Amino acid sequence: MKKGLALWLLAFAGVLFASSATGTIAANPAAPPATAPEGDPENHEAMLAVCTSCHGAAMFSAEPRGWARWTDVFARMTRHGMEANQDQIDRVVTYFLENLTVVNVNNSSADELSVALGVDEPVSAAIVVRRKHRKFTDLAELAAFPGVDAALVARRAARIRF
Ligand code: HEC
Repeated sequence: MKKGLALWLLAFAGVLFASSATGTIAANPAAPPATAPEGDPENHEAMLAVCTSCHGAAMFSAEPRGWARWTDVFARMTRHGMEANQDQIDRVVTYFLENLTVVNVNNSSADELSVALGVDEPVSAAIVVRRKHRKFTDLAELAAFPGVDAALVARRAARIRF
């Protein structure tokens, strides 16, 4: 089953590659370069190594999801036979939290916020204390919070909810 799937995907990728090679680049010379992934490039490498042996990254890279949904996906992929050592798991988790996870500043756990917002644990703990008294309303308010990197949260703004 696994081998069959891999072969089928390989054939499919061949078709996609052939069709994309027929002039997409010439037709759109001004396309901006792809945005670099957030975080340690080795996390991105680990994600590619762990997640793209059965299907391409296009299967999941275009659609950010909440963390509970990603953990369901990881569990299902493990049942499909996905393999990873502890270092790779840590890196994949970090990669998904930094690049593909939607968080809510007023609801998500401190652990999720720490990685997704790129803040130290005392800062994510302070965010949790603060939101109990008064919810955060927008990105500007988050960016002004002590310990938050305004440029970083601006880059990740599309995945940050209030
Ligand atoms: C051992 C093979 C294998 C590996 C490795 C693998 N997948 Fe999958 N994946 C599958 C199969 C088979 C399906 C189709 C069946 C399904 O949806 O469960 C699939 C489907 C999916 C889907 C579409 C279904 C959905 O829930 O939207 C997503 C997303 C996905 N994989 C993400 C991942 C991610 C993220 C990783 C790495 C953490 C990964 N996969 C690694 C085999 C694999």
